[in-house]
Amino acid sequence: MTVIAHNLTRRFGDLTAVDSLSLSISEGELFGLVGSDGAGKTTILRMLTGVMDPSSGEARILGHPSVNLAPVRGDIGYMSQRFGLYPDLTVGENIRFYADLFGVADAERRRRTEELLSFSAMAPFVGRQAGRLSGGMKQKLGLCCALIHQPRVLFLDEPTNGVDPLSRRDFWRILRDLRAAGVTILVATAYLDEAERCDRVGLLHQGRLLACDTPEKLTNGWSSSLEELVISSIDDHAPPASKPGHRGSVRRQPPPSPAAEGHNRLPSVTLNGLTKRFGEFVAVDDISLSVPAGQIFGFLGPNGAGKSTTIRMLCGILSPSSGRGRVAGFDIATEPERIKENIGYMSQRFSLYEELTVEENIAFYAGVYRLAADKRRERSEWVIEMAGLSERRGSRAGELSGGWRQRLALGCAILHEPPIVFLDEPTSGVDPLSRRKFWELIYSLARGGVTVFVTTHYMDEAEYCDRLALIYRGRLVAIGTPDEMKRERATAGGKVPSLEDVFIGLIEEQDS
Ligand SMILES: Nc1ncnc2c1ncn2[C@@H]1O[C@H](COP(=O)(O)OP(=O)(O)OP(=O)(O)O)[C@@H](O)[C@H]1O
Ligand SMILES: [Mg+2]
Repeated sequence: MTVIAHNLTRRFGDLTAVDSLSLSISEGELFGLVGSDGAGKTTILRMLTGVMDPSSGEARILGHPSVNLAPVRGDIGYMSQRFGLYPDLTVGENIRFYADLFGVADAERRRRTEELLSFSAMAPFVGRQAGRLSGGMKQKLGLCCALIHQPRVLFLDEPTNGVDPLSRRDFWRILRDLRAAGVTILVATAYLDEAERCDRVGLLHQGRLLACDTPEKLTNGWSSSLEELVISSIDDHAPPASKPGHRGSVRRQPPPSPAAEGHNRLPSVTLNGLTKRFGEFVAVDDISLSVPAGQIFGFLGPNGAGKSTTIRMLCGILSPSSGRGRVAGFDIATEPERIKENIGYMSQRFSLYEELTVEENIAFYAGVYRLAADKRRERSEWVIEMAGLSERRGSRAGELSGGWRQRLALGCAILHEPPIVFLDEPTSGVDPLSRRKFWELIYSLARGGVTVFVTTHYMDEAEYCDRLALIYRGRLVAIGTPDEMKRERATAGGKVPSLEDVFIGLIEEQDS
């Protein structure tokens, strides 16, 4: 056995983060850990890699106790959730740094670097400073650094959060190659389609291993998917009857047809030849589109496509190099202040104060938006209620698990009741149940007439949008409803592809 845990336990004060975990993983196995936010995945990986000592119990890696892994350090690879990149070093220099750290020989380093840059589509950017990469590109660079040496055991903590579908597919190809070469892999993931590709999956909830088996056996007897299994086992509160039936269970009224409600269907976001250059590099290239009021508009594209840069321009944070944009009736270049009063913005790394409590964070944003005192109380209560945080008003934001934090961040972004919200990857790395709850909030906003401009790398979420735009290398590649996009690419036999296939197909067409 390459990894053995026996009654491994970790307590933080009163909280038992990991509760008597016993597990063994054999050589060459690809093992997936899934569960709710805050289930204990990261704590388990930290203990197994010897970064954190257990409160009780023990673990052995390659025959060595986890509390003393010095003799096998070089055989263990670990990519933590916040992997340490050097923002001032370039992409190439970061990879080089890790190669040297792991003592990778020159020829081997060159070969692997080339392979990794090609899987991640990062080769054109070797000379760019890591601090200037998009969110997903940073994540992919972290993966390249973690994979630059070939360890015997590899621990990966949610390695593909924020990584686009194309790169995720290529990343899993690399994992399969590593497994074929005998590497043992333990990967924590929020994506259940990834878990389904593992040899075995451990299902964690509140520090306990609820089940552990092959994906087939886990879902056996359940006519449903792994996603349904996970959702029902982490949803303690829902009575069985109200548990989601299938993934379409995030339901909404059909969107009112634009024709029928012509009077208030003025475009609320319009881009006209919008362009942003950083030096020679064109990050957003002549994009024109418009979004009518009350629509849920999905803005898709691979990592580095220019989504966040576009959103920053639309929010009046970054000025365009050329072209125009109007948001809520205001010009983004000449009236950025008016725009900020009229929109909500949740950035890719959202902006909560970790040291402040839930209520203090809300009070802070109420101050920023200068809400009157009575309004302030009313809106705070509304946000707490909406986000389901009434029992956690006194908790520090930093202690909340991903799903709570993200609902609180949304609440803070819409305290002032803006008619338009921009959400930049709001659900990245959040468990499937919390993602559903979040989309229910998005729907209720849209029902109230709010325009929602949202980016995501989850194709199931893209399906929930009224309309989608796909951008690549700064350019608009396709625009339409999810159905239109799929129907346009149906095969001669009439088979309708999945949105993920559409997305990957369009990108590959652009490349060829
Ligand atoms: N200040 C900057 N200087 C140079 N290049 C930049 C700067 N900011 C962004 N870029 C580049 O612009 C491109 C678009 O980045 P952007 O963050 O908009 O991508 P994205 O579509 O949001 O990607 P992701 O899905 O990874 O979040 C990337 O190649 C990025 O490296
Ligand atoms: Mg982005």
